[in-house]
Amino acid sequence: MIRQFFQTKSLDRILSDSENSEHKLKRVLGSVDLVALGIGAIIGSGIFATVGTAVAGDAMRPGAGPAIIISFILTAVACAFCGLCYAEFASLVPISGSAYTYSYATLGELVAWIIGWDLIIEYAVGNVAVAIAWSAYFHQLCSGLGWNIPAWLAVDYRSAAQAASTVAQSGGHLDPSISLFYSAWIDHPTILGIPIIFNFLGVVIVMLITWLLVIGIKESARANNIMVAIKILILFFFIYSGWKFVKTENWSPFMPNGFPGVWVGASLIFFAYIGFDAISTVAEECKRPARDLPIGIFGSLIVCTIIYVLVAGVLTGMVPWNKLGVADPLAAAFAYVGADVSAGIVALGAVISMTAVLLVFQMGQPRIFFSMSRDGLLPKYFAKVHPKYQTPHVTTIWTGVIVAAVSGFANINEIVELTNIGTLFAFVLVCIGVIILRYREPDRPRGFKTPLVPWIPILGILSCVYLMLGLPWVTWWRFFGWLLVGIIFYLAYGYKNSKLRTKAIQDK
Ligand code: ALA
Repeated sequence: MIRQFFQTKSLDRILSDSENSEHKLKRVLGSVDLVALGIGAIIGSGIFATVGTAVAGDAMRPGAGPAIIISFILTAVACAFCGLCYAEFASLVPISGSAYTYSYATLGELVAWIIGWDLIIEYAVGNVAVAIAWSAYFHQLCSGLGWNIPAWLAVDYRSAAQAASTVAQSGGHLDPSISLFYSAWIDHPTILGIPIIFNFLGVVIVMLITWLLVIGIKESARANNIMVAIKILILFFFIYSGWKFVKTENWSPFMPNGFPGVWVGASLIFFAYIGFDAISTVAEECKRPARDLPIGIFGSLIVCTIIYVLVAGVLTGMVPWNKLGVADPLAAAFAYVGADVSAGIVALGAVISMTAVLLVFQMGQPRIFFSMSRDGLLPKYFAKVHPKYQTPHVTTIWTGVIVAAVSGFANINEIVELTNIGTLFAFVLVCIGVIILRYREPDRPRGFKTPLVPWIPILGILSCVYLMLGLPWVTWWRFFGWLLVGIIFYLAYGYKNSKLRTKAIQDK
């Protein structure tokens, strides 16, 4: 039985299964689409929202201060190691499913299942965080335009209750960073004694994105390209307009909480980089995967790192670092220096950017489910392709409904930490997979080869583990709990229905 857990699916079989016409996706994406898809996934709530906590820290942990620039660079280096491994795998196994598919070929079915399960954290849970940040910015944008959406339709209940207790404990003092949550608490209605506070805006945006994805990937990629152009313009606007307000004394002390602060900052800001790997989930829909996938992964990673470092420099130069612990730090920085119109423009940019992130992640998750279902690890129903739109509509709709429902009630900080640990773990497994496959199938043609194997993958593993260790223990426990549920699910369903094993039994 143990041997069966580690049974691998041969690369030839993976490729031939994907050619099966009943469950085949259209090859329509080129390298420009892929770079745009990567930037679409990468730049989002990480740089617009999480950066605030990463710089200023919170009640439990120190922040990086202006040294967030170092955190960004450290994290980019870790992602580059993993990106090299992803690029090799994606060019070798150019079909839908991301790390899940790669590990099926290298580490065996159980590990593949664990990764597929783990990737739900990256894509679906990550999207919950983005949807929550989206609604905070959207709410603010509307307020700036004079449209008052009730705060109790834009936040979760727990955060509102926590804000109320913080205000009560501090003798009625209201910190601007919690004013949205506090007003939700003050104004909320009740129905039959039940307080009504939930993130309705997050639910609505997720459902709209889901609809867009069901009607077709090419249409969605086009919408994404436009949003990516807008988000790059907005971030350059932030850098250009914010630069005038930089006071060099705000950069001193540069590292107020020493290296521990930089480490915590890096483990949080990793969220801002998640997404370059999402490119590999659409490998099956690329015209020339061997050439375009590495271009997509590296192109987007390099562009984003440059932009992040510039934004971080300007942001921490505009506002003292310990005042940045707000939900909308980039817009708040302009508000802090009295540039309210610029604050509005940045809020609009944040909303557009996060919409693009939601789109790419919402596109990635169903394609992983789709691959798992095609392999028999999930029910066949999930591998259905829409007869007219040629999209995996069943998994797209299910993902949308679940992400929307959780977005209505979850707390963003917990969700960001869980997303980071789950994603880093998947990256570790991808790095291990590259090493194994180099030894097991050294001659198989690779469109892209990771240099200096095994050293680059080993550095990828070490840097991911280092970032994981910067996250709180409670996040580790949640993560282990999630994996345990996944293993139980596998033993109850996937183990019995796996096509690989069913076929092996028939062949005997
Ligand atoms: N990197 C994505 C973001 O920052 C997940 O929103």
